[in-house]
Amino acid sequence: MIGWFALLVVAAFYYVPWLKRVIGGFLYQNPYVQKLPGPKGLPFIGSIMDLAGDTTVPLKFWIREADKARAEGHGIFTMTALGRTITFPINGDTLRYICESSEEVVKGKDYEYLRAWVGDGILLSIGQKWRDRRKSYTQLFHFSMLDGYLETFNKHARIMTEVLAENSGRIVDMSDLVKRLGLDSICDTAMGYHFGTQKNPDHPYITAVDIFTKYSQRYNTEPQMWVTWIWYLLYHRDYKHALDNLNALTEEIMNARLKKVESGEVDLNAKKRPLIDHFFALHQKGEWTLEEVHYEINAAIFGGHDTTGSTLTWIFWALATQPHFQQQCYEEIRDIFGDSDRDTTHEDMKAMVLTERFMKETMRIFPPIPVVERELQNDFQMGPYLLPKGSEVFITPHLVQHNPEVYPDPWKFDPDRFLPENIDKRSPYDFVPFSAGTRNCLGQKFAMHEMKTVLAWALRKFSFHTHHNLLDQELAIEVISKPTLGVNLKVIPRN
Ligand code: HEM
Repeated sequence: MIGWFALLVVAAFYYVPWLKRVIGGFLYQNPYVQKLPGPKGLPFIGSIMDLAGDTTVPLKFWIREADKARAEGHGIFTMTALGRTITFPINGDTLRYICESSEEVVKGKDYEYLRAWVGDGILLSIGQKWRDRRKSYTQLFHFSMLDGYLETFNKHARIMTEVLAENSGRIVDMSDLVKRLGLDSICDTAMGYHFGTQKNPDHPYITAVDIFTKYSQRYNTEPQMWVTWIWYLLYHRDYKHALDNLNALTEEIMNARLKKVESGEVDLNAKKRPLIDHFFALHQKGEWTLEEVHYEINAAIFGGHDTTGSTLTWIFWALATQPHFQQQCYEEIRDIFGDSDRDTTHEDMKAMVLTERFMKETMRIFPPIPVVERELQNDFQMGPYLLPKGSEVFITPHLVQHNPEVYPDPWKFDPDRFLPENIDKRSPYDFVPFSAGTRNCLGQKFAMHEMKTVLAWALRKFSFHTHHNLLDQELAIEVISKPTLGVNLKVIPRN
């Protein structure tokens, strides 16, 4: 009898990993977690039921809890869920502590799922490995390098106008189009590889990214997926198929580049070289294995396209739902370019001040990356709050960027919030779409240049329309944030 019971317990632990989490979490309950502000939830499971539902639910719950904590004068709230303890900084003052920490740079548990795709590269590595990678990347995003990318940004933005022209007067799924544009741009600039998905919408890579990131989100919130046999029965096939497609493209990119290196067409030691040549040069020096090159390419493609895709999606949404702002941005662009069909330059970008404010206000209201996670390696003092080792911190731009103490009437769209005199009144940690501090986004300037080039082309040639209002959308949080209604806009050519 005791033997059977023991067997049952072992089997439960083996087949139902979430039980480990629940029991482990219960045993672990840290006494001072109870003292932190935030929902207390139910015994064992914490607030997991408050997160149940579609991918819009967690954010709504977090916003409610942030409002409650703010009303009580707090700068954080902490929740537990199935043994995890998660703290959310809700203003720039508390967020600063985690962003500036050089010790606490370990990513949270939910990123583990991405490891199969991006490996232990820049996005997930820690310690010396991460510092070395960051150094390599930083050189590659130096301002002088950005110059070289402009021509490519213009090329792909021009192709986008051709696709829009083919569909003029019709409804276009802008979200899908800008995602493909982002993919073509990052592959061309960083990998020297012409992908051409804007004119090839059925490319399996796009679907693969979608399936993989969707599963990644679901895996974190649907415990049945943690049960090995259910996973294999229901999900593994699609997941594996998506991963295989993602890796197949990487192999194709690597082989194409290596062929050019072998034929002497490409010099890996050229002063201005794309990211991929830098990776191969490190391989040649014996510092990286080919597997590391493979994963790093995946990381760069992922970090460099889904993010700009999501941001541009929201920007087109904000333009179409607010015709008066669209007109103002158009007029600024028309004043810069006149009737010309010329490429965008750095000087043009500097002159696009109003458009830049518009872009930033869109990123404030609809942050493209909903959450950035850290897992604390030590007890961590966040201002007056002591957070336990092993717990997590979720950097959630939405919560600080909708803080009414810093942004009065936070859902009101007002690009003037980004006038220099207004920016000066805030902490840099009150606006964090690219994260901030030690582990901030390295591609920030790259992304801003790419997106401005896209807008300079799109608004010069077309206007965008919908009958919806700005706040009709809800944010579905996956690895990036997605509009629940999609962004299907009527595209009208300008004379
Ligand atoms: C609007 C577009 C973008 C947004 C909103 C964005 C946002 C972010 C955020 C929030 C992080 C922090 C992630 C974390 O700590 O877990 C990050 C990291 C990073 N981003 Fe971006 N990103 C964008 C575009 C890009 C582009 C175009 C590239 C490359 C070409 C890029 C390269 C990176 C890299 C390499 C990191 C890792 C930094 C590190 O861990 O040290 N990003 N990005």
